Amino acid sequence: MPPAPDSSPQDRLTDSWIANAAAWTRVVQAGGIPSRKAGTDAAILSALARLRRGRVLDVGCGEGWLTRALAAQGHEAIGIDASPPLIETARAASSVAGEVAAPTYAVATYATLGAALDTLGGPFDAAICNFALLDDDLATPLTALHGVLRPRGTLFIQTVHPLTALAGAPYEDGWREETFSAFAETFPASMPWYYRTLGSWLRAVRDAGFTLDSVDEPRAESQPLPLSLLITATRR
Ligand SMILES: C[S@@+](CC[C@H](N)C(=O)[O-])C[C@H]1O[C@@H](n2cnc3c(N)ncnc32)[C@H](O)[C@@H]1O
Repeated sequence: MPPAPDSSPQDRLTDSWIANAAAWTRVVQAGGIPSRKAGTDAAILSALARLRRGRVLDVGCGEGWLTRALAAQGHEAIGIDASPPLIETARAASSVAGEVAAPTYAVATYATLGAALDTLGGPFDAAICNFALLDDDLATPLTALHGVLRPRGTLFIQTVHPLTALAGAPYEDGWREETFSAFAETFPASMPWYYRTLGSWLRAVRDAGFTLDSVDEPRAESQPLPLSLLITATRR
């Protein structure tokens, strides 16, 4: 059932990923997101290829494509997501994929991340948030991730590029609405998401106790604006 329109943006955000789980899974698994094919999948995989094998956490893993890729590269991969149907789909996909060490998964929201991580254990060598930090509160998940990463562990965040997503609106933080109308699938619910300026992203990462290693802007030759913003940072 689509979320009630009068709920808070945070509740509608998490509820939308329950309502949209099946449509999202079909789109991702059919390669139906042009920016992913144009380079954002390759960008995160290339950034992660530099990691030594270890314990890695895929935060907001969705149907689990990246968690599976990490397991296939030999990492001990753990995926968490707020959407129970997406975690169910990720588990089912991993059980037939036949990786040497299958990923494990847990349902957790950004707000319960700290407690869930106690159960999942730690410390982790790396945490990856691939288009998964959509809420206005970044301090809660980033502080929780800081708490479970090893000293000098790596944080990877790939997100929409603030310039590309601006779409004529003022350049300032604030809630926006994604309708998924560009996709071939019909999504039952629209999704509130929190737009951030470049400075806002970098400050949030630094304030949570990380040192910036790189700020990349993956490009596709045919496109005038960056495909995404890719931040790599080290736990202080
Ligand atoms: C755009 S999808 C990205 C999924 C995956 N990382 C990928 O690359 O395909 C965003 C994911 O963030 C998750 N998410 C959104 N809000 C969340 C929250 N408050 N806590 C945990 N996960 C959340 C959604 O359930 C969804 O799976």
